Amino acid sequence: MPKIKAKKKKKKAAKKIALKVKKTAKEKIRAEIKPHLAKAAKRTPQLLRGFKDILPTEQKYWDFVRKKTKNIAQIYGFERIDLPILEETALFIRSVGKETDIVEKEMFSFEDRGGENISLRPEATASVARAYINHGMLNLPQPVRVFYLGPMFRYDRPQSGRYRQFNQVGFEALGDINPVLDAQMVIVSCNIFKELGIDVNIQINSIGCPNCRKEYKVQLVNYYKSQKSDLCEDCKARLSKNPLRLLDCKEEKCMAIAEDAPQIVDWLCDECKNHFVKVLEFLDELEINYNLNPRLVRGLDYYTKTVFEIWPESNEKKAQNALGGGGRYDNLIEMLGGRPTPAVGASIGIERTILRIKELEIAVPEPEKPDILVAQLGEAAKRKALGFYEELRKEGFNIAESFAKDGLKNQLDVANKLGVKYTLILGQKELSEGTILLRDMEGGIQETINYNKIVKELKKRLGQ
Ligand code: HAM
Repeated sequence: MPKIKAKKKKKKAAKKIALKVKKTAKEKIRAEIKPHLAKAAKRTPQLLRGFKDILPTEQKYWDFVRKKTKNIAQIYGFERIDLPILEETALFIRSVGKETDIVEKEMFSFEDRGGENISLRPEATASVARAYINHGMLNLPQPVRVFYLGPMFRYDRPQSGRYRQFNQVGFEALGDINPVLDAQMVIVSCNIFKELGIDVNIQINSIGCPNCRKEYKVQLVNYYKSQKSDLCEDCKARLSKNPLRLLDCKEEKCMAIAEDAPQIVDWLCDECKNHFVKVLEFLDELEINYNLNPRLVRGLDYYTKTVFEIWPESNEKKAQNALGGGGRYDNLIEMLGGRPTPAVGASIGIERTILRIKELEIAVPEPEKPDILVAQLGEAAKRKALGFYEELRKEGFNIAESFAKDGLKNQLDVANKLGVKYTLILGQKELSEGTILLRDMEGGIQETINYNKIVKELKKRLGQ
């Protein structure tokens, strides 16, 4: 009995300590944010740097891109997958790579209230790979084809086409090594841009497998060491940390040095070489416009063999404004603890695509306009008009209202702004007579119509 009592006492004490620790942590957080809150309370909160509001006027571009991409995804057999925006930080360290710019400088990472280190996703391929393992997708018919649409987060230096929150549409095919899938990823990406009316140029390379890359890296480092004094500071660090990334540095001096650097295609093993040749043959078959780019290495460590980027046609030198990118990642799923599973994918940046649509002044479909506005004069008419609006909605008409406004002039102004074809006016007189006024907004002609016949009349006039 005393033993049980002591145990209970111990448990109670431990609980008390835990509560105290929790309370102190909360107090610490409160103390930390208090000065910020006091400062922020004095001004209107601002949009964070690198973040964007997508206003109603912009939505037609988003609808256009989303609709076209979803359509292509379905045609090619990709099924939609939605993944969380927050993931364990370790997922990205192990996939994107510890020594990449994304992981080193660009992740939004923090500890949650439970002390777990989590990050806003900087990309979604890693999450797809995690989901493939977590949900045993290896038991599904392979390749598993999925696509996603959604926001990604990178603490990048904001500039045109570069944001801290941006959206991607991505395609992944997991569970098959066939080079036809690499070609298909390029084809799917090209077709999306074709559908949107944007001319693109594919930059393509093979970065081999870890085996052929090992020897190549030695050659590359030897070459760059001989020019070390002319390299930018970042590249000096890349020499030991991530030599492949030396090739795609955007500093002018480094770009000139990269011109004569050894090329990985000369070091590919037979398997990687054959794979790459086959991918190119498939692209030739479909007359895809591609450019062999020996300096294309991509900024994520999980790639093997094929890598590619989609550049706007007229803008070839501006690699930082790639519209999309992708490649094969045969080792990623195994690196995350799954069975060896080859895979390939691509993602397209929606903001950059929309910028290009605007630059090229491509006409996008306007949002559907309402055909009819229901106007009312007086309290009794307003009550009747509310029900009438619902009736018309159920009949399938595209209608608008301006119930919050009272005067007829104000309501007709709204009708003109919306560009409706007809305004239906309900006033005291119409209520007592069981009629409604139908105003043709183009000619301004008004006709009195029997309330019970208005639906039929509107259907006739609108050709429904
Ligand atoms: P990524 O090249 O890092 O690849 O990003 C793909 C696209 O996202 C870029 O080409 C660009 O259009 C857009 N993007 C990237 N960063 C920004 C930014 N800061 N602001 C605006 N747009 C941006 C990936 O993310 C890989 N997950 C692609 C992939 C899928 N590989 C295999 N499967």
